[in-house]
Amino acid sequence: MSTRPSDKALHRTVATNVLVIGSGAAGLRAAIAAHEAGCDVVVIGKRQAKDAHTVLAAGGINAALATVDRADSWEQHFADTVREGYFLSDPRTVELMAREAPAAVLELAEWGAPFARTPQGTLDQRFFGAHTYRRTCYAGDFTGRAVLHALVDRAAALRIPIHEHQYVWRLLVHDGQCFGAAAFDLHTGERTVYQADAVVLCTGGHTRLWRRSSSRRDENTGDGLYLALQAGAALTDMELVQFHPTGMLVPEEIAGTLVTEAVRGEGGRLFNAMGERFMARYDPERMELSTRDRVALANYTEILEGRGGPHGGVFLDVTHIGRDAIIQKLPRMYRQFLEWQMLDISTQPMEVAPTAHYSMGGIVVDPDSHGTAVRGLYAAGEVAAGLHGANRLGGNSLAETVVFGRRAGEHAAAHSHSLGAQPRSQRAIGAAHQDLDSLLKEGTELARPLQRALRNTMWADCGVVRTETRLRSALSRIRELQDSARRLDVRPSSEGFGDLAHALDLRASLVAAEATVIGALSRTESRGAHQRADYPELDPDLRVNLRISRSTGGTLVVESRPAPETPAYLHKRITETRAVSVAGRLLE
Ligand code: FUM
Repeated sequence: MSTRPSDKALHRTVATNVLVIGSGAAGLRAAIAAHEAGCDVVVIGKRQAKDAHTVLAAGGINAALATVDRADSWEQHFADTVREGYFLSDPRTVELMAREAPAAVLELAEWGAPFARTPQGTLDQRFFGAHTYRRTCYAGDFTGRAVLHALVDRAAALRIPIHEHQYVWRLLVHDGQCFGAAAFDLHTGERTVYQADAVVLCTGGHTRLWRRSSSRRDENTGDGLYLALQAGAALTDMELVQFHPTGMLVPEEIAGTLVTEAVRGEGGRLFNAMGERFMARYDPERMELSTRDRVALANYTEILEGRGGPHGGVFLDVTHIGRDAIIQKLPRMYRQFLEWQMLDISTQPMEVAPTAHYSMGGIVVDPDSHGTAVRGLYAAGEVAAGLHGANRLGGNSLAETVVFGRRAGEHAAAHSHSLGAQPRSQRAIGAAHQDLDSLLKEGTELARPLQRALRNTMWADCGVVRTETRLRSALSRIRELQDSARRLDVRPSSEGFGDLAHALDLRASLVAAEATVIGALSRTESRGAHQRADYPELDPDLRVNLRISRSTGGTLVVESRPAPETPAYLHKRITETRAVSVAGRLLE
């Protein structure tokens, strides 16, 4: 059965200087930068322009603006990020983020992002966990949406085209140079070959691979990670997956949906079923504003040891802060619980539990340019590695999107300007078509159930706390699912080409899952978000990044590399400020 023509004459061709894949904050900021550097740019995304995954980012965006806590500085932001990432981040990446986030946030405000203001008119900043000072700028609890809309409007003003509903199934590479991507329209199936001098990949992470996830359906399936690996780039630290401490539990269809850290930033308290404010046992100084890994593990432990509520969660309570403050500072949370559970959070606590939230590993990129090992291929945002180490500070991801989106866009534009001629390969384009054609066939398996089985496996065997036995069981289940995936039934329906997209998502997810489990098996220690019950201590000898690439035979190979050292002038700052603070109060 062949459902779509694969003859090269029958695809549409779009040529541009810079192709940006992904229409979230990183992608749009990259596109704006490349446009401003004088390039033709096209952005392609799977969803509608204003509905990229960035809209789900809730609580805020970090920048050491010191508008509220005067003592803050980019150096302190650097120190907090590196230390709380357990020294696995790339210090240069962190330095660039901390130095450049203030200008990036002010720019967003200038472009219309409606950030909250202080009575003096400067940008307000709230607390997020484990930051020494208040440095998280916010727009209620819909900061991601505010940022995304400002960027979409800016891109529209610059007339940057955004092609919606495009699913990229292959990056086009010839002679070690990326020259575009092959995509199909999710509604019509029409194929487009996007030819470009440079490609920026801003496609998000892989946390939809876990049964409980803060991502929506069909997002963060690891597709960008797969594309990069196929193209010849390397991945790193795939096992470092952040579990957000507070996700919703019911109803089942939205289990995992984020309950923003801003709830705790605004004073929310965690209790177990016995009414104990249990964070006092896990981090008595920082309490609910401890690091995400510690709060997630605390919630997990309370639930596991039988002190959870009726739905298997702990209780997050904001009733003491008052209805007016809740409606002003946490409007989305207020609505979310009313709509889904008919629960008024100004009078009753929320029941919450950990949820897979963020891929801290990803594609290996150069810190300055965000270029990958493949010439002409750049990556920014969640799909790229280097910033977060073993534990991401809340609010750093939105900062990452705009700082490194801009950098990737500028470097992609410079690469485009440097080319004397545009590389092309009909062979590579033909191979891409063949790849897609090979999936369109009758079979005995369906993608959705296999995706569900993978999500259950990752949750049960590669979740908040891991062991070798469970990880090995996950690996063998992944191999079984890979085998079943060879027998997929894939055909277009009256609703479009969703079947094909699911098949491709599954293919990517299985590889991303395998890379994650292989990394998790290799990291025989507990560090940040990676907790091993059989190796409960941090091993100083494992201050390494675990790099994953494809062998010539196609198997995944893991290689351990010492994590980069922090330059002395910045290391001093970390040791000087080992103290942490709660509500601006230094503890040591
Ligand atoms: O909890 C939150 O609002 C999430 C923020 C983040 O992941 O940075």
